[in-house]
Amino acid sequence: MSIRFRELPKVSLHCHLTGSVLPETVAALARKHGVPMPGGRTAQDLYDIDSHVDLDEFLRVYDMVGQVVRDADDFRRIAYESLTELGSKHGVLYREIFVSPPAHPGAGYRVLLDGVRAGMREAEQDTGIGSRIIVAINREDTPAAAVELVRQVIEYRCDEVVGIGLDYAEVHGPPELFHEAYRLAGKAGLNRTAHSESGPTPNIEILLDVLGCTRVDHGYHVVDSPRITDRCRAEGIVFTCTPVSSDIGRYSGSGNGKHEKIAAMVEAGLRVTIDSDDPPMFGTNPTNDFEVLHRTLGYDTDQLLAFTLNAVEGCWLDDSDKSALRARVLPHLAPA
Ligand code: ADE
Ligand code: ZN
Repeated sequence: MSIRFRELPKVSLHCHLTGSVLPETVAALARKHGVPMPGGRTAQDLYDIDSHVDLDEFLRVYDMVGQVVRDADDFRRIAYESLTELGSKHGVLYREIFVSPPAHPGAGYRVLLDGVRAGMREAEQDTGIGSRIIVAINREDTPAAAVELVRQVIEYRCDEVVGIGLDYAEVHGPPELFHEAYRLAGKAGLNRTAHSESGPTPNIEILLDVLGCTRVDHGYHVVDSPRITDRCRAEGIVFTCTPVSSDIGRYSGSGNGKHEKIAAMVEAGLRVTIDSDDPPMFGTNPTNDFEVLHRTLGYDTDQLLAFTLNAVEGCWLDDSDKSALRARVLPHLAPA
């Protein structure tokens, strides 16, 4: 029987708000604010995937898109669209979305957060999708900027914000630089994750030991160290993998669509979850990322649902909300 990929329940732990903006929405917001389209592009060629020769090039497009999202209603709209067009319509039941204040330099933190929270509420009312926020630090900024951002998160504490993350290019911002921001976040009871996409592999232990992370975003190179792999398996560390976006950067494999690293992580018994990272920017969506893994690695419904259940266990909901989420996924499992 063919798998109905779209209908399979999904839990999304690695999706960026700024990376979810639909090209037509970028065009509409540029018009609204009377500014040119980013890079002089059109809605049609804005996310030309072939032009992402590496992560740096992709991140410059990401930054340009950030510039057209400015007021609270813009943030409401893009949060709503991420959670519906790129979420509930693809079977996503719950998303912890990365929100990047530094990518929107014109918007104040409170304006941004209030807009996103309004979009989250509306999406839940209309479709039932639940969501929370992870505030992402830009590792290409200074450690002092990271501390200042965490201070803002703590001063304007909202129930929706469940943790912090660290994104942008790992080569330009090694994780240990951000120890103080992460210490403050931990002290305030915030959960912690960080991107580790290109490595080196010892960065994974820095995430765990210095930053206090319980999740690793991407983390493919973990399998290059049997010792660190054993440790992560023993500690139940959750890896939020993004097959399509990482294939373009050659992180999840050799860029040949084979996703060797993800296959090795699953084989090693690590807690892997699957998501789309920046869906329209990489020409993907949650349904497609599942389908790609089925096509290339032969993963069946049980394995795809195992990714969803790993995400349920690794998410940052409280125990009762987590049980309710689990109860929505379990009926999809084939009877033993
Ligand atoms: N920010 C948005 N997407 C990212 C990615 N794939 N890697 C690092 N930072 C990001
Ligand atoms: Zn990411």
